[in-house]
Amino acid sequence: MRREADVLPSPPGGGAGGEGRPGTAPRVADLMREAAARLQAALGLERREARLEAQILIARGLGVERSWLIAHDRDTLSPAQTVAIEALLARRAGGEPVAYILGEREFYGRVFRVTPDVLIPRPETELLVEAALDRLPPERPARVLDLGTGSGCIAISLALERPRAEVSALDASAQALAVARDNARRLGADQITWILSDWYADLSVKNFDMIVGNPPYITSGNEHLRRGDLLGEPVGALVSGYDGLDAIRAIIVGAPARLVQGGWLLIEHGFDQKDSCQTLLRQAGFTRVTALTDLSGVERLSIGRFSGLGAEP
Ligand SMILES: C[S@@+](CC[C@H](N)C(=O)[O-])C[C@H]1O[C@@H](n2cnc3c(N)ncnc32)[C@H](O)[C@@H]1O
Repeated sequence: MRREADVLPSPPGGGAGGEGRPGTAPRVADLMREAAARLQAALGLERREARLEAQILIARGLGVERSWLIAHDRDTLSPAQTVAIEALLARRAGGEPVAYILGEREFYGRVFRVTPDVLIPRPETELLVEAALDRLPPERPARVLDLGTGSGCIAISLALERPRAEVSALDASAQALAVARDNARRLGADQITWILSDWYADLSVKNFDMIVGNPPYITSGNEHLRRGDLLGEPVGALVSGYDGLDAIRAIIVGAPARLVQGGWLLIEHGFDQKDSCQTLLRQAGFTRVTALTDLSGVERLSIGRFSGLGAEP
C-alpha cells in the first residue's frame, strides 16, 4: 500500500547517490532540518512530529541514539551515511509507518518486534493491560485468554507481569502468531500457549478467569483507513463489518461459555462504541459493567464480570 516515495532534495554537497564532494559534506543539523521539512510536506505532519520522526530515522541510519544527533549537529556525514539515511527517509516519505521501518515499537515498557503482518501496538492499549493487572492478583494463579493477539503485546505483558498466570493467546493470522511467538521468545515469556483460531472456533479450554481483547473495530468504509499509519497496517486487524462491531459481538457472545463464573471480560473498542459494547455485555449476562477512559479522554475500554446467565445486570 506504500505510495511512491518523493524525491529527496539533494543533501548539501552530496546527494542521495552518495556522490559527496570533499568539503561540502552535509552536516547533521542541515540534514535534520531538510528531512523534517520533507516529511512534513510529504505526510502533512505537525512540525514537531516531523522533526521527531526525522531525528528517529537519522539516528537509526547512523546507528546512534537521538541525543547523539543534538550533541553532534555540526558533524559532517559521509556519502555512505547519507545514502543509508536517504533510504529510510524515502520509505517514510512514501507513507510507511515509522514502527515498520524500525521494525519495533515500545509497549508497556518493553520493545516488541513489529512487521506489516501485525498492528502497531498503541499507547491506549496499555490501559487494557493495566485494568487486567488490577484484576489479577500476583499471588493467585489465573487462566487468561488474549483474543486477536497480533504482536502479542497484551499477552506477553500480562505473562511477564503475572508469572503465575497461564496465558493463552490466539489470532486468525498465522503470520501474526509467528511475530508474537518471536516476541515472547525474545522477551522471555515462555508460559504462553499460542493458538491459530477464528475467535473461539478452535479453542478447547473453557474455564478462563479472564478474557481480554483489542479486536478490529473500524467500520468498513471508514475514511481514516486511507490515512496515516492505518494505510500500511493489515486490514484484518482494523476492519470489522459495516458498523465495526462484528468482532466485538462475536467475542462477547462467545465469552460466557469460556469463562468461569465471576470471570472478567475486558474489551477495547472505538471512541463511539461504548454504549453498543455495554449493551452486548449486559445481554450476554455480564454484570458490574464499566468503562475506562484513556489519556485522551476517550471511553476506550469496557469491562464486565460474568455472573452466570440469568444474573441481574
Ligand atoms: C486490533 S488488532 C490487535 C492486535 C494486538 N492485540 C494489539 O493490541 O496491538 C486485532 C487482531 O485481531 C486479529 N483478528 C481479526 N479477526 C480475527 C478472528 N476472526 N479471529 C481471531 N483473530 C482475529 C487480527 O489478525 C489482529 O491481529
